[in-house]
Amino acid sequence: MAIRNIREMGEPVLNKRCKEVVEITERTRDLIDDMFETMYEANGVGLAAPQVGILKRIVVVDVTGEDPILLINPVIMETSGEQTGQEGCLSVPGKSGVVTRPNYVKVKAYDENMEPFIIEGTELLARAFCHEIDHLDGHLYVEKVEGDLMDVVMDEDEE
Ligand code: NI
Repeated sequence: MAIRNIREMGEPVLNKRCKEVVEITERTRDLIDDMFETMYEANGVGLAAPQVGILKRIVVVDVTGEDPILLINPVIMETSGEQTGQEGCLSVPGKSGVVTRPNYVKVKAYDENMEPFIIEGTELLARAFCHEIDHLDGHLYVEKVEGDLMDVVMDEDEE
């Protein structure tokens, strides 16, 4: 496994539509392992393949640090409700902004064996699913921010 370089806003790879995954190769498995490792190392709750420069429809999410979720070719099937709150992105370091998202989403995706499954999320998990799936279509949360992007003030004991 390896930590991959996280691409930042302004790099064209973040604004492209990603391609569907059609088969899982050794390279795909390596990519997935690296995405989890890169997300955890960066203290993120989600990461999409274009953020490491790969235009494939692959997302990793873990909103608790103990519940890794892999979504291949994810599609949002259903949403309901609304939540408005702070959002950030590893590709937009040091910033956050207020975004309104559905409070519930139902997602269809494929696992590492290309078996389909359905997963539901509410609150932070729903927000993470929406945010990461947006990345696969070349969209960043900054397009949806209400008001201004804000600077994140880090605690002194953080990097
Ligand atoms: Ni992001």
